[in-house]
Amino acid sequence: MTRTHIPVLAGELIDLTGPREGDNVVDCTFGAGGHARLMAVRIGSAGTLVCVDRDPDAEERFEELAAEVACRTRFLRMDYTDALALLAAEDFTADVVYFDLGVSSMQIDTRERGFSYSYDAPLDMRMDPSQELDARTVVNTMEERQLSKVIATYGEDRNARAIAREIVRRRKKAPIETTAELVAAVEAALPAAVRRRFGGSSPAKRVFQAIRIVVNDELEDLERALPGAWSILDTGGRLAAISFHSLEDRRVKHFLADRARGCICPPDLPVCRCGRTPEAELITRRSVAPTPGEMADNPRSASARLRVARRIDTGETG
Ligand SMILES: C[S@@+](CC[C@H](N)C(=O)[O-])C[C@H]1O[C@@H](n2cnc3c(N)ncnc32)[C@H](O)[C@@H]1O
Repeated sequence: MTRTHIPVLAGELIDLTGPREGDNVVDCTFGAGGHARLMAVRIGSAGTLVCVDRDPDAEERFEELAAEVACRTRFLRMDYTDALALLAAEDFTADVVYFDLGVSSMQIDTRERGFSYSYDAPLDMRMDPSQELDARTVVNTMEERQLSKVIATYGEDRNARAIAREIVRRRKKAPIETTAELVAAVEAALPAAVRRRFGGSSPAKRVFQAIRIVVNDELEDLERALPGAWSILDTGGRLAAISFHSLEDRRVKHFLADRARGCICPPDLPVCRCGRTPEAELITRRSVAPTPGEMADNPRSASARLRVARRIDTGETG
């Protein structure tokens, strides 16, 4: 079992968020702490690093990091939306808040957690193992049409209908219990010519991604968390997100663009009536992708996209 996680777009995240000595930083997706460790070095002993993750394995990793770094540290084992609400209730203000979305290599490589199509394991895929909904329930109970929609949308898989049909056909005979049984259902749904097109990679990859997104409610959770992250930023503070799925990146892009927008009055109005002023300055006008070198060293980074914005003074008082 490999337990390493190479932080993605790490240099770019540090350069574009620019953490300084004494800053308050919130890592919403601690994982194995690769990014957090780099932030800790920058903020030094006067800084505070709050780390959040809903996975208990991440908390173990945090204990190791906390013993090694000079800054004040705190771990919140909970959903990042709840953690951000908690910090807001404590009037905590942050100079940097960031998300590194999706699943960690630690989670994928821990076979028994069922995130990977490469190992046979019970169908689980929960980032928070105390959560009730798991992949087994989704695969065995979701209505066929919904399953097909999920595979098409979150998995961006053109064969979604055939795959959903095959899953439902099989589960009528006996529940699909393991990752290998799900892989077998996906493979059986595809004609040999289509299977061959995948070459070395598995046709189940996209289906696993889709089911994982549903199990962990990843897109809705991100949508809920972004306003919370923005609300705890000090003026001048930076919000960053690394996405691995176009639907995640789209949510981040729209959220930041909306904050960066000023007046929204119709162009034919002679004077502004909306009174809206921008709250954000986009540090990245376009998303930042890994360099070819990073993608070669860490193929899991290939779909990563980073966006960063700074909170600016709107001139409002009170
Ligand atoms: C891609 S990994 C982060 C890796 C980390 N940046 C590093 O360098 O090691 C994403 C992590 O976010 C956590 N996570 C995802 N969604 C979450 C949520 N809604 N609340 C809390 N943690 C979440 C996952 O459990 C996982 O450990």
